[in-house]
Amino acid sequence: MNGYMELQRACATAHKDVKTTESKPLFHFKKQLQFLYGYVLGFLMALITLLCYERFLLQAAQVRQHSTATENWQAGYTNAMRELKSDANLLHQRLEDEVRVLCMVLTTPAQHQARAAHVKATWGKRCTRLVFLSSETDVDLGAISVVSKTHDTYDLLWYKIRQGLRHVYVRYYGDYDWYLKADDDTYVIMENLRYSLYPYQSDMPLVFGYELLQQNVTYMSGGAGYVLSKEALYRAVNFGFLNETLCPPANYALPEDYSMSICLQNVGVLPVDGRLMLPGDQKQKMFPLQLFDFMNANETLTNGDWIERLTPYELDWGLDCCSNFSISFHYANPAVMYLYEFLIYHLRTAGVSHPNAMLPDKIDNSEFLSKFFSENNESTPRIPVKWVDVA
Ligand SMILES: *[C@@H]1O[C@H](CO)[C@@H](O)[C@H](O)[C@H]1NC(C)=O
Ligand SMILES: *[C@@H]1O[C@H](CO)[C@@H](O)[C@H](O)[C@H]1NC(C)=O
Ligand SMILES: *[C@@H]1O[C@H](CO)[C@@H](O)[C@H](O)[C@H]1NC(C)=O
Ligand SMILES: *[C@@H]1O[C@H](CO)[C@@H](O)[C@H](O)[C@H]1NC(C)=O
Ligand SMILES: *[C@@H]1O[C@H](CO)[C@@H](O)[C@H](O)[C@H]1NC(C)=O
Repeated sequence: MNGYMELQRACATAHKDVKTTESKPLFHFKKQLQFLYGYVLGFLMALITLLCYERFLLQAAQVRQHSTATENWQAGYTNAMRELKSDANLLHQRLEDEVRVLCMVLTTPAQHQARAAHVKATWGKRCTRLVFLSSETDVDLGAISVVSKTHDTYDLLWYKIRQGLRHVYVRYYGDYDWYLKADDDTYVIMENLRYSLYPYQSDMPLVFGYELLQQNVTYMSGGAGYVLSKEALYRAVNFGFLNETLCPPANYALPEDYSMSICLQNVGVLPVDGRLMLPGDQKQKMFPLQLFDFMNANETLTNGDWIERLTPYELDWGLDCCSNFSISFHYANPAVMYLYEFLIYHLRTAGVSHPNAMLPDKIDNSEFLSKFFSENNESTPRIPVKWVDVA
């Protein structure tokens, strides 16, 4: 309708333009001239009408094109936003931004290429920052020397981890929220680690991991990896490491995970088992064995029952073993790392999609205290924890 009126208006203007003052025609030619006049006028009018119509068509097409483009753009934008909101994208991005994790991977020069390089090529690249604690600097790998070569022995791992934490504290404290300690044969699913840490405040003194119990001491398995909050790191370095009543002396040949846990608890850091990290998910998430071992219970238990002896609860096996948001597995040689990498990040099952995860709720301080302190109430008071030789 609009277009039609526009056409009329445009043509009316054109008509006005071609209206000429009538000259006095010569008698003889009057008829011919009248005819010519009519002919020319008709021709011009037809031409103008044609031009007007053409212009109208063009305008209409432009309007149509513009609105279609706008609609398309809007639809595209809305879709993109919808996708972003519901999709893993937003969740992924938020976790990456809000849960900054520095990964400290214990390694030795002999393992730089054999193992550490494969950590870097797989899960390590997903850390907010990746640092290898070694006795030899390797800039390409990202390894730093935190002890001398002569001190880089299995017996002195406790000393090495202390030096490593001190280095990380001096260099990076304040830049990250959480500090993950892993071995060069630990595989970590960083997305699930961030997801499980999300409810917690890093200014609370916490350490998460796979809880073991030996000599009445609760400690976090070193092979499964353990995560210190920023506050826990602060306390360990500034209070624990400086006081031999609180933490085993640096030259003691005690397992690093056992010593570290005693040290942390004596500076008021609360150990939280992986089973308790995510509300509503009671399955373990950080494992001191490889996944295969849990699918192969009879064989695993025949070869060594330490896992059952030291785990303070009944273990689950097979498909039921592990949280769907599992975080870490130990004893991952490079081939196993690539196996996990493929199964987790490459393999698709056509037509099967996972329901979108939602960010878990944050846990506030009072909720946290009531939840964790009453659950751990049964065990003896944690401060101070005495250590005995368990080597
Ligand atoms: C562990 O605690 C129990 C009960 O409190 C006690 O009987 C036992 O002697 C303790 N064992 C060690 C090695 O401290
Ligand atoms: C070490 O910690 C203990 C227990 O908290 C305390 O009594 C002692 O004064 C501390 N020693 C030093 C040197 O700070
Ligand atoms: C383990 O052993 C038990 C008893 O022999 C058997 O029933 C079970 O199927 C075995 N499990 C596996 C995974 O082989
Ligand atoms: C874990 O995933 C499996 C397969 O999708 C599902 O059957 C099971 O219910 C999930 N477990 C939990 C606790 O959500
Ligand atoms: C342990 O539990 C008792 C009773 O449930 C409670 O009064 C006390 O505050 C708890 N202790 C801690 C350290 O939370």
